[in-house]
Amino acid sequence: MKKITAVIALTLVVALLAGVVAYAESGYAYGEDVLSAFAPGWSEIFTDDTVISLSVGAEAGEVRFAWLSSDGKEAAFRISENSDMSDAKEIPVETSEATGDCMSNKVTVGGLETGKTYFYSYTEKGEWSEPQPITVQPEENFTVLFVSDAQIGRSGEETLEEVLIRDTCGWNYTVDKMTGRYPEAAFIISGGDQLQSADSITQMKAYLSPEALRSVPVANTIGNHDKGETLYGDVFNNPNEVNELLGDEAGTGYYYTYGDVLFITVNSNNNFLFDTAKVLKSAVKAYPDTKWRVVTMHHNPYSASLSDDEYSEYRLLFSSLFDCYDIDLVLSGHDHFYSRTEPMYAGEEAKGEGTVYVQSSSASGSNYDPLPDELASFTVSAFDVRVPTYTALTFTDSAIKGTTYRTDTDEIIDSFEVKDNTSDSDANIFTVFISMLKTLFSMI
Ligand SMILES: [Fe+2]
Repeated sequence: MKKITAVIALTLVVALLAGVVAYAESGYAYGEDVLSAFAPGWSEIFTDDTVISLSVGAEAGEVRFAWLSSDGKEAAFRISENSDMSDAKEIPVETSEATGDCMSNKVTVGGLETGKTYFYSYTEKGEWSEPQPITVQPEENFTVLFVSDAQIGRSGEETLEEVLIRDTCGWNYTVDKMTGRYPEAAFIISGGDQLQSADSITQMKAYLSPEALRSVPVANTIGNHDKGETLYGDVFNNPNEVNELLGDEAGTGYYYTYGDVLFITVNSNNNFLFDTAKVLKSAVKAYPDTKWRVVTMHHNPYSASLSDDEYSEYRLLFSSLFDCYDIDLVLSGHDHFYSRTEPMYAGEEAKGEGTVYVQSSSASGSNYDPLPDELASFTVSAFDVRVPTYTALTFTDSAIKGTTYRTDTDEIIDSFEVKDNTSDSDANIFTVFISMLKTLFSMI
């Protein structure tokens, strides 16, 4: 009875709060009815101590899983082609000590056929979870959904339930909308700041709560709110992590492929140029011949906030490398507004081929930053309405086709095509140095 009363009270509080137009710098896509329907389920999210996360595999046909538990001694995982889990194959679980006296349980499943649906189930202490489907999407003309800065807990005092509920509701709403529109999406890329507090298991449970994330892998990025703590690495089972000299407690850069695309995720909190160069070099050496190369990093070197000195170092250090490694597309977040650039090379709009930089807004609506009074000259699209957005990227032979939606109305706010950036530059210490000098001159 007490529990029911508490839920009713909480629902009323949230319903009342929903009547307020904005919480600090937040702005959500959902209506009051959605929040009221979502709030009673919070206790289920809050108490789900073993929620599983799906990460992208090294290649299509591999999916990586991780979950926390209080005792990993009996953790087990199995996968089957049948929903009743008949003829299931048991996959070994790697268990290690993790954040908050938890154990981190990780599983890598390879050899899955594209175009086929499988079912998986996992357990701690013998009680198997409800089997969940996962479809390995075909590699031809596949689509990836790009978001950033769900940043659960950002809209107010990050430990308060009403703050967590409204941010989590916003994140769930966006995930539902985009996976509903693109049920065939191969995976999701998150540009970082998944949480407000890097060590908050509650916020992590909230981030993992959307039902669609039981079936769609996510390539997460280390944002400035994710660094310095081990939780990110405990919960996300990233492939091909690169052993960096100045790696973070959260993790390092990593890379993976899907179809004819090499995806490289770098930790832009680490400004040590040689570490980023090592990640790029390792990735390109492992997969030298893919048609497309896409980098994800939290901070955007070509932010529309040109005047903000914060970005100078990213442009100088990171973009010079991207120029030399022929990166086609860079995906970022951090600014909490959507923007896209012209193709860029050496600090300027490319005369020929260059790298396009796309920056996502907040995926939950927990916080927005204002656009600068004057946009940088290289910014061709920017969106400053306080509404969550998401971008669908479809990789074809001729182009990367991007479409960006506002989550509330489904209106398309930007659409673009990225063409192959096949400049002849070689990536070596000399070419990177020349590119840095050119970039430096462009910034003076
Ligand atoms: Fe952020």
